[in-house]
Amino acid sequence: MRDVRGFRLLDGWLDRPAQQAMVDEIRAVLRAAPLVRPVTRRGQPLSVRMSSAGRLGWVTDRRGYRYEPRHPSGVAWPPIPEPVLAVWKGVVPEARLPDSCLINWYDPQARMGMHQDRDEADLTQPVVSISLGDDALFRIGNLERGGRTESVWLRSGDVMVMGGEARLTFHGIDRIAPGTSTLLDAPGRINLTLRVAGGSEG
Ligand code: SIN
Ligand code: MN
Repeated sequence: MRDVRGFRLLDGWLDRPAQQAMVDEIRAVLRAAPLVRPVTRRGQPLSVRMSSAGRLGWVTDRRGYRYEPRHPSGVAWPPIPEPVLAVWKGVVPEARLPDSCLINWYDPQARMGMHQDRDEADLTQPVVSISLGDDALFRIGNLERGGRTESVWLRSGDVMVMGGEARLTFHGIDRIAPGTSTLLDAPGRINLTLRVAGGSEG
């Protein structure tokens, strides 16, 4: 385990067969709830394509950032696959169970600007991130925008926990390194982020 500014990095938490099984589960989710390229409130498309599993899925469109119980097509999000839930239970056994799993697809050009995760009802609950496919350069900032940052490469099978002090730390993905993994059929990266998005009524 490595600790970088309160982010707990569990390198190689998933072995290759577990990664492969998880990709198969995610492909099944994406057949029911296909990836979409979301836009910001200003209509700016994100470079990452997204979908979700679980009771709530994170979306952004002209109405802004929020959690919704349905895919933009109107279908309910598929359930979070059991092996994905098992990662959460393994790394944050003390936390409430997650009700949201965001699926981010990075093609070789995609990136994610520095941001905080703060659309969830209970910010005392951690975020757990799973990396599959090509390596990604993850940048960790501070509790306020700006300041000195530190970067780490996230590799296929790595799991990261953002909890406690680090829960509201700015972070982003500068770039991926296409072709560094043979897990997926095409160059790119899947990132899964598990969250407790709703209130305790859920
Ligand atoms: C995110 O911050 O939502 C995604 C981080 C990642 O892709 O590793
Ligand atoms: Mn985030």
